[in-house]
Amino acid sequence: MPLSFVPLSFPASVDVDKFRDFGREVRGFEVSTLTDAEVFSEIERELYEHDLLLFRNIDLTPQQQYALVKAFDPTSESYGHGNKALDKTKTNIIHGYVTSLPNSPQVQIIGHGVVRDHEGIEEITLKHGRHPEFHKTRVSEEDEAKGFTRFFRWHMDAALYDLAPPKVTALYGLKVPKGPLQTIRYDDGTGDELKVTLGTTAFVSGKTMFDILPKELKSLVVRARARYAPRPFQWMRKAKAKPTGLGLVTEGAEIPLDELQWEESKVKIYPFLWKNPVTGELHLQVHPCAIQEIYIDPLPKGRTTENALYPEGGNLTDLHEIRDLVYKIQRPGITPNLVYPHPWEEKDLVLFNNRGLTHSVVGFFKEGQIRLFHQCNLEGSDEPAGPTEEDVMRWA
Ligand SMILES: [Fe+2]
Repeated sequence: MPLSFVPLSFPASVDVDKFRDFGREVRGFEVSTLTDAEVFSEIERELYEHDLLLFRNIDLTPQQQYALVKAFDPTSESYGHGNKALDKTKTNIIHGYVTSLPNSPQVQIIGHGVVRDHEGIEEITLKHGRHPEFHKTRVSEEDEAKGFTRFFRWHMDAALYDLAPPKVTALYGLKVPKGPLQTIRYDDGTGDELKVTLGTTAFVSGKTMFDILPKELKSLVVRARARYAPRPFQWMRKAKAKPTGLGLVTEGAEIPLDELQWEESKVKIYPFLWKNPVTGELHLQVHPCAIQEIYIDPLPKGRTTENALYPEGGNLTDLHEIRDLVYKIQRPGITPNLVYPHPWEEKDLVLFNNRGLTHSVVGFFKEGQIRLFHQCNLEGSDEPAGPTEEDVMRWA
């Protein structure tokens, strides 16, 4: 059967105009053809053109999931946060939520509740990221019991120190508990809310996040680079998030850099905009929690400075200023009608362009609701490409 790529069915909350190019459901795919070069090149192209591919009702072993992800970056080997780095020291905030499968260390088990006798694991208690454990404020217990919740943490999958960001992530749902819809509250004074299925993963397009910016902010982001904190997930481990899950509140909770073991050569500095390798489009890709400094190039010679932000360029080092600016740039992109909350079914495989979108865990499970997923992404074999000189001349 030939492959076909059909538009996703979107929930009513979505502004379909903005999602015309986003996401495709892959039909006619047989796992046994995974390594067929023609099949793969079609999948690879569609993935970069649409940023997210959904395969429904698919049987996929951890080895096949790893093979599929590896096909996007054949020389990469290790899990995106490093195979060894993911120990149980509890000093890295990612560690509480992911565990490597003993027989396929690049594949992680994530979810919620107690899972027994699974892929060589005798018993494990999984923990779904829940906002009261990470946000500065929380939805009251009473409202949470009524089904109100929040985005947990907007991010791309990346260690942002030493290792290059993975190109794609594959999320495979093995156990998907059913329950009533939950309502995400933004709690940022806008009154924004979004109704979603239980345990959805929320996705926003980095391309749309850039496209909807006003001219001055486009000019700024095409000239901006983020310097990420050394070992950012240790650095931020005591910090708390804003109610939208989009970045941290600034109250001096970060671990001082001299208390972390790090090397300058492993620190990551990335452009705000990452260039899609197939479409050439620019995607706004900034990890709002991990950013520690911003470098801004001056406007190109001869450009009018009227209304321009940082026309002379600059180096921002104040966390308040950095986080306020990044929030102003990213918040429009997570407005309810720009969010695709994926309605998980068992045996769904979602493959996404990790260098082209931002995503978040959502919601909470009750006791006895068991969620079991396999996640795989691999350290990139190269670094993301930023805007070209032409892009800068066009947007700055
Ligand atoms: Fe993730």
